[in-house]
Amino acid sequence: MRFLLFICILLTTSMAAHGQDAMEAKKTKAQAAAAEIVTMRSDLAKNFIKPDMEITEETFNKVCGAVGKRVKEIMATDGLTIRHVALKYRNPANAPKPAEMEDLQTFEKYPTLHDKWDEVEIDKKKYVRYQRSILVEKACLACHGAKNNRPQFIVGKYPDDKAYDFKAGDFRAVIMVLIKKE
Ligand code: HEC
Repeated sequence: MRFLLFICILLTTSMAAHGQDAMEAKKTKAQAAAAEIVTMRSDLAKNFIKPDMEITEETFNKVCGAVGKRVKEIMATDGLTIRHVALKYRNPANAPKPAEMEDLQTFEKYPTLHDKWDEVEIDKKKYVRYQRSILVEKACLACHGAKNNRPQFIVGKYPDDKAYDFKAGDFRAVIMVLIKKE
């Protein structure tokens, strides 16, 4: 009897340890995915945006458009939920939900705040959440700079655009990665 109890305890502990390992592995993936997205966008903007070039939808496809595609790929392979969330958003799908406002305001107030981990409940499901800040760089200003300098395709395609008038170093948005808890 005692032996059986011992086996049970051993099994439960090892299952819990396994669950913890799986969560740690997912957290590492979440952090890596966010880092990849920030670096990818920054590198693409630096490589494709040249001074005085005409910015078209084709240019966008090579920068924020390409990033959007990569996000979908990572979600499909790593089982993570990834969103861009911005106070000043261009795509209304990236607008914050009321519960997400406070963190964004904190990131905006403290642009040196790099990232944040916490846990949230959405639609009765529990998630571990990772948020990583995205800052504006000089190369982003071709499309996120002065309101009147925005490329024509952006003015036409995003009538409710709020993602302009940024300066280099400003907080732009977070990448939010959700890991479902078992
Ligand atoms: C060629 C134009 C262009 C450049 C350059 C560009 N963006 Fe964007 N960006 C866009 C467009 C257009 C969207 C809206 C995409 C969509 O419909 O989801 C966007 C969306 C975003 C979003 C998603 C949140 C939102 O507002 O909808 C973030 C974050 C972002 N850009 C950050 C950056 C950063 C940081 C840089 C520089 C490293 C940058 N962008 C450079 C055109 C650009």
